[in-house]
Amino acid sequence: MTDSRRPGLFLSFEGMDGSGKTTQMRRLIERLRAEGYDLLETAEPGGTPIGLQIRRILLDSANSALASRAELLLYFACRAQNVAEWIRPALREGRIVVSDRFTDSTLAYQGAGRGLDPAAILTLHDLACQEVGPDLTLYLDIDRELGLSRARARNAERAAAAQPDETRIDDEAAEFHDRVRAAYAGLCRQHPERILRIDAAQPIDAVTQDIWSAVERHIAAHSLRKASAHV
Ligand code: TMP
Repeated sequence: MTDSRRPGLFLSFEGMDGSGKTTQMRRLIERLRAEGYDLLETAEPGGTPIGLQIRRILLDSANSALASRAELLLYFACRAQNVAEWIRPALREGRIVVSDRFTDSTLAYQGAGRGLDPAAILTLHDLACQEVGPDLTLYLDIDRELGLSRARARNAERAAAAQPDETRIDDEAAEFHDRVRAAYAGLCRQHPERILRIDAAQPIDAVTQDIWSAVERHIAAHSLRKASAHV
């Protein structure tokens, strides 16, 4: 989805809960910063202060009455804000944007998971994102059971630390998560030029290396400049 009017590079991470996405994203950001690249770190749902308020509604397990279409629109409300307030300005300034999830998550979770129309999701994407989308997507593929067991361990740690409950989607049935994973496999087939599937069951350092090799190639292809050392 490269937009020639913007000089930056947009990277997104995708994967099921418990795929190690957060750890890998953190490692990539540390490496990019150490190499002197100027970057914006963001997340979906979340990112901006308004997005964080929307995130709370979306992930609170008390909101079991949230209708699928309301959920869909909230994800896109969050994304529209993130694009307008943070992502587009950063790309215009030639920065690297690293986002924990983007519209592929909506196609996987609301499209395949909830059974909402993918064409309607893409229409909302066009409206919310106005041609902004990832140049490279790093998809960390993990077996459902391994992913869910890691996600449950993380949720227990959050509960023990009295952090806000974020389990509404992790609590879905196994079939929901299987549909999500199958949808990601379909997206990889549909967009081989953009989405890189990485085996997240590999040792953690091997995953980090696969990610870095792909990102390095994209940086070279985009001729990105370093802002300065240790930004
Ligand atoms: P996170 O745990 O990676 O922060 O993601 C939060 C949850 O939100 C995760 O279960 C996936 C879900 N999600 C959707 O259902 N649709 C979306 O569009 C996005 C961005 C996330």
